[in-house]
Amino acid sequence: MKSAGENIVLGIETSCDDTAAALVRRRVDGGADILSNAVWTDHDDHAAYGGVVPEIAARSHVERLDRVIARAFDEAGMAVADIDAVAATAGPGLIGGVMVGLTAAKAIAMASGATLVPVNHLEGHALTVRMTDRAEFPFLLLLISGGHTQLVAVEGLGRYRRLGSTIDDAAGEAFDKTAKLLGLGQPGGPRVESAAAGGRNDRYDLPEPLKRRDGCDFSFSGLKTAVREIAESAPRVNGAMAGQDVADLAASFQFAAARHLAQRTEKAMDIIEQKFSPGRLVVAGGVAANCAIKSMLSALCESKSWELIAPPAKYCTDNAAMIAWAGAERLAAGMTLDREEAMAFAPRARWPLAPPPEGRALGGGRKGPKA
Ligand code: KG4
Ligand code: ZN
Repeated sequence: MKSAGENIVLGIETSCDDTAAALVRRRVDGGADILSNAVWTDHDDHAAYGGVVPEIAARSHVERLDRVIARAFDEAGMAVADIDAVAATAGPGLIGGVMVGLTAAKAIAMASGATLVPVNHLEGHALTVRMTDRAEFPFLLLLISGGHTQLVAVEGLGRYRRLGSTIDDAAGEAFDKTAKLLGLGQPGGPRVESAAAGGRNDRYDLPEPLKRRDGCDFSFSGLKTAVREIAESAPRVNGAMAGQDVADLAASFQFAAARHLAQRTEKAMDIIEQKFSPGRLVVAGGVAANCAIKSMLSALCESKSWELIAPPAKYCTDNAAMIAWAGAERLAAGMTLDREEAMAFAPRARWPLAPPPEGRALGGGRKGPKA
């Protein structure tokens, strides 16, 4: 049931390997009800190739999206006629997948008369915490996933200031590559974290990335090279590293990655500290599930009297509820494109949420320099 002033939005997310659809209601008081959150991910599709294969992902979205959308409506007990808008990720991401999701959204909008909202995937991540925790603007966002690593000052809806981003690998990508080097399998992040649980994080001395460089950018390629060199020179029995060496190297890498993330975040906090007080740090993305990283960030926030907010993991990783919510916020604020413009909106492989700081080139990541 829906009352005046409320918005019910269908969200569609297909920018990587998850095929996802969700229904979210934005209440008049600004609160959110997540009515359904359907997702279909099949890591086995890509496992043999050691990473997401864009063509396989695009084909899976074509095959699955209809069913995932139907499931989202079923779980919510709703029909297409109940929605006010359909919001779809229009970029950045793997272009084949983005195309599938955005085209489906256009078809639904056309058939139902619902408003079409093309959503920037990064805006979805940035606004999640307003859906899950009703966080007020402004806040500092540390987004750490397999495709993105950036620090963004979120000042208001559509008002984002990028303070730093990775100049090479994304944080999750570094975990995935480390898992591969250590023979731990995929998905790498959770495997490295559990291997690290039995290891010493001071056994190997790994470099501090960008130690002598000011600003809030990140770099993970040096850590990856250091891990590779240690792994290659480690003693092996039948080709395999000793279990304790693997655990110690996983723990040392995890510690070095967490320390790097915390150090750069501290610089961003210093930059914006005058602007909003008390400060709020929001951490999102798949890597935010890592307990060593979370506890280092939590200690940092405590030392600076900042609040740390981490939305639940299922809304931190890629999902369609965050896309629906970004659409709902834009709809409520009257910040949507007119219908003709929205219908003509072309999918984008690259779509920075905000321009890079003065004098900085765009950063990289597994899916290319997306942001
Ligand atoms: O946000 P996400 O689900 O998808 C995108 O990449 O957009 O993030 C996935 C990434 C993967 O690289 C995965 O290895 C990493 O998040 N990850 C973790 C952990 N759980 C997932 N990294 C470190 N520790 C974890 N516990
Ligand atoms: Zn994402």
